[in-house]
Amino acid sequence: MHKIFANSLFVGKILKILPHCHSTNLVAAEMIQLGNVAEGALVYTDNQSNGRGQRGNIWESEPGMNLTFSLVLRPNFMDIKDQFNLNIMASVAITRMLKKEISGGVTVKWPNDIYVRDFKIAGILIENSVRSRKIEHSIVGIGLNVNQHKFKTPKATSMKELTLKHYDLLEVLEKTAIHLEKAYLDLRDSQSLIKMEYLNNMYWMEEPHLFKDSEVFIGRIKGIDPQGKLLVQRGDQEFAYDIKEVEFLE
Ligand code: BTN
Repeated sequence: MHKIFANSLFVGKILKILPHCHSTNLVAAEMIQLGNVAEGALVYTDNQSNGRGQRGNIWESEPGMNLTFSLVLRPNFMDIKDQFNLNIMASVAITRMLKKEISGGVTVKWPNDIYVRDFKIAGILIENSVRSRKIEHSIVGIGLNVNQHKFKTPKATSMKELTLKHYDLLEVLEKTAIHLEKAYLDLRDSQSLIKMEYLNNMYWMEEPHLFKDSEVFIGRIKGIDPQGKLLVQRGDQEFAYDIKEVEFLE
């Protein structure tokens, strides 16, 4: 374990830096299984070989180029029905951090992909354990593209591609950790205020675009419901979609 972050209250006070691992989310889950992990503990590597993504996808990250890390939280103030608020909190934290570095175009593509214009710069995978309807532990896994130049997927970008600056990874990790802590405290104070910020940052909000459920249609994003489902207006009706039930086309 390393302790480095001087400017946070609890996030990153315990920092496990690994030269390599398969998945920081898995390492964090193993630590939780082994015993008492302090809230705010971070597991970080810049060389993750089997990063887990949403919908069973793999998160690819070139060794030495990007941030791949997991934050352990114990949001026992939250009922399981409100768990989407953790996605909101993490998305808001990353967008706040990126807006300070990158001028314009930082949005959240529902549910929690961070985009700059039409390119994905960060992904979030949250894995919760639940006891008596309360969230006992939450593992907030974040992959943020920092210095990588070329991507296998065409719609990806990095901070360096956008600003032409080379970043010190641990400095970006510390800034991100501080934003995560602030957003988590904001969430504790008011779940509705931080949700409003998420909605204000939403990719394609209120714009007409092509989507696909069982068929292709033109719709307009109107927001999210209390469970975090995506609300899309189609004609004069509004539909609520779970992850996997709708695709964003163009
Ligand atoms: C997505 O599919 O967009 C979510 C990607 C989440 C990747 C991060 S990298 C750190 C953490 N450990 C993992 O195995 N996955 C998450």
